[in-house]
Amino acid sequence: MRSSGAFKVTRRDLMVVGAAAIAAGAAPAIALDEPAASATAWPEAVFPTVAFTVNGEPRSLKVDTRTTLLDALREQLHMTGTKKGCDHGQCGACTVMVNGRRINSCLTLAVMHEGDSVTTIEGLGSPESLHPMQAAFIKHDGYQCGYCTPGQICSSVAMLKEVEAGVPSLVTDDLTASPEASLAEFRERMSGNICRCGAYSNIMEAIQEVAGRKA
Ligand code: FES
Ligand code: FES
Repeated sequence: MRSSGAFKVTRRDLMVVGAAAIAAGAAPAIALDEPAASATAWPEAVFPTVAFTVNGEPRSLKVDTRTTLLDALREQLHMTGTKKGCDHGQCGACTVMVNGRRINSCLTLAVMHEGDSVTTIEGLGSPESLHPMQAAFIKHDGYQCGYCTPGQICSSVAMLKEVEAGVPSLVTDDLTASPEASLAEFRERMSGNICRCGAYSNIMEAIQEVAGRKA
């Protein structure tokens, strides 16, 4: 390695510093853009442990600090109901609820959720006991291929709670009044959930029915 006469760094020095950073759980910045294959090459012993509940069950995982919540759910907990569409926060297929609020699980790191309560599509209902929103999606044919459906359902359940809580949207006219449970509000609030099959009108019918039941 080339060095100036006053400041000499050897290859061995760099390796010692790098090993210390790994042991502390700090990834070198350049590693953030590397593919998952290189991430799995790190020894698991250096990974931190994160504890949270998923669908009411306590879970404790050793995770690479770069692992998204989506990948932790799918790859480590094998809960594949939550889908990976774009992996870039653009489609909503990965929507889950954390502490009752909907988020894109591809945009958040698993280690950020210590102590949190995560709800996925598997935790909303079961084939024997469907959540009302799941039943409404079936009744109104709110899907075709079904790939976006877990995200659509998780998002719509949390979205109705946002309306009930008075959280305004971009199309709420009066920010001092409670938002209406209207089609325009539902469309705007669900605009982050993309359906490549175009089942939007049926999805809206399902949501409106559940909203009507609640009213
Ligand atoms: Fe997360 Fe598309 S997979 S928004
Ligand atoms: Fe196929 Fe929505 S049902 S993408």
